[in-house]
Amino acid sequence: MRLIKLSDIPRGEPLRWPIYHESGHLLFARGEIIDEDLIQVLRESSIRQVFALDNYKIKPERFREQVRHKQVSVIGLSARDMLSQPVFSNSGQLLVPSGQYINDDYKTTLIRNNIQNVAVKKNSRELKLKQVSAFNRNLRLLQKKQANGETFEGKADESDIAKTVKPGEPISDSFVEKAEKSMQAHVRPSSMTLVNLMRKQMKVVFSESEKQRLSKFYQTLTNETEVLFSHLRNNQGVQGAKVGELSQKIMKEVLTNQNFLLSLTRMKQRGDFLFNHSLNVSIVGMNIAIALGYSEKQVREIGVCGLLHDVGMLLVKPEIVGKKGKLTSQEMAGVKKHPAIGLKLLQNIEGVDQLACVVLFQEHERGDGSGYPRGLKMADIHDFAKVISVADVFDALCNSRPHRGAQIPYKAVETILRATKLGQFDKKIVTALLKCVGLFPIGSWVQMTDASIARVIQSNFDNFDKPVVKIFFRGEKRLDEPEIIDLCDKSGVTIEKAIDFNQSDEELLKLF
Ligand SMILES: [Fe+2]
Repeated sequence: MRLIKLSDIPRGEPLRWPIYHESGHLLFARGEIIDEDLIQVLRESSIRQVFALDNYKIKPERFREQVRHKQVSVIGLSARDMLSQPVFSNSGQLLVPSGQYINDDYKTTLIRNNIQNVAVKKNSRELKLKQVSAFNRNLRLLQKKQANGETFEGKADESDIAKTVKPGEPISDSFVEKAEKSMQAHVRPSSMTLVNLMRKQMKVVFSESEKQRLSKFYQTLTNETEVLFSHLRNNQGVQGAKVGELSQKIMKEVLTNQNFLLSLTRMKQRGDFLFNHSLNVSIVGMNIAIALGYSEKQVREIGVCGLLHDVGMLLVKPEIVGKKGKLTSQEMAGVKKHPAIGLKLLQNIEGVDQLACVVLFQEHERGDGSGYPRGLKMADIHDFAKVISVADVFDALCNSRPHRGAQIPYKAVETILRATKLGQFDKKIVTALLKCVGLFPIGSWVQMTDASIARVIQSNFDNFDKPVVKIFFRGEKRLDEPEIIDLCDKSGVTIEKAIDFNQSDEELLKLF
């Protein structure tokens, strides 16, 4: 833990340690990229120095404990002082409990028992909480300005930005090969603005009306995806800009209501698997893209790629898609044609991005060459296709299919991590997935080391195994008022294991 000047905050690279205000308020999390605009926000909020928590031996909760309290001599105690720790006599008898404001009786008791100093909570003036409010306000202003494009630098590498397909240009595998040559497979993250914005806006508690609005929003998106797909299936023209608009709408909500939207992707699907799956891959893919530090434009493009990645499945025989048993090798060969079929369907989209064509054709490729249709190796697969393939597998595993049941999210993550070890998925992209959903993804039921049963409701970005949980059961007893706990703040209690606990969608929504 170090007190550092603003000039000593590293710029332009992911922070190796979190930065705190002297009140213990987290200003910048580990991994955030600080630029001059953010330093200016600190200056405008009269913050001249900050704490860098660069010693991993000190946990954030210990640090907060240290900075939020002060030692005061008993003689100097006043009625405004609140004890932050219980005080015991030499014989172990409780003299004053913690959280108690000091009155004359308590003071006399402490003096009689020869207590010299006690720990009291600092007041808001001492903690300089005005600076924290000013920081939050100024940060919001900056984010608003950036969202309006006023200062958004749009640093995306031109070669990575999608070019739209010219009208009438045939889209086929040879078109994809040509497009691949004109773009780099590796996408350079261009800005951490979105990830910073998402971290700051992460909500844990959602009001009833917000939950209803978001559930309706998700349903509307599913319907819009269905309409889009039926146009494609029936060879009716679709405007590429319309797909972009749909993606833009999703991105806006992902940025502000990430946790709730991710939980909606975990709900049992009522309609056709493909509509929900395409939408979910778009949502999960955007989350990964944001965590990777992609720009607004790149995230929106990932959203489009997610929506369109599996359109080829629309024309795969329903008896194969809905088959309960194992597919024969002939049926499997039919399924493996869906990327090529998908390319043909994209022909119906006027002004479709070249990137969406490349991603659709590459997203079943695997880094070790075991994928299809071309058995490409990691270096030749476009980063966007790698993002969509991780999102695709994650969502597919979490949902039931005719031939298998749904995996619990923890198992889905485990499966992906195993495949990553085999070189199938890109480590940095799987890490980004973990940042968004955690090792125990949102919606997971978990058993804690203190025997309580909880549900994961928010990830903690860099602390994959320490999400925010809502405790529902303590041992056998169901709590009347479920308790929200941030495992990053609570020392001692950790997650012991993920548990398989079936619950209806209605009950799931009540958990927020
Ligand atoms: Fe697919």
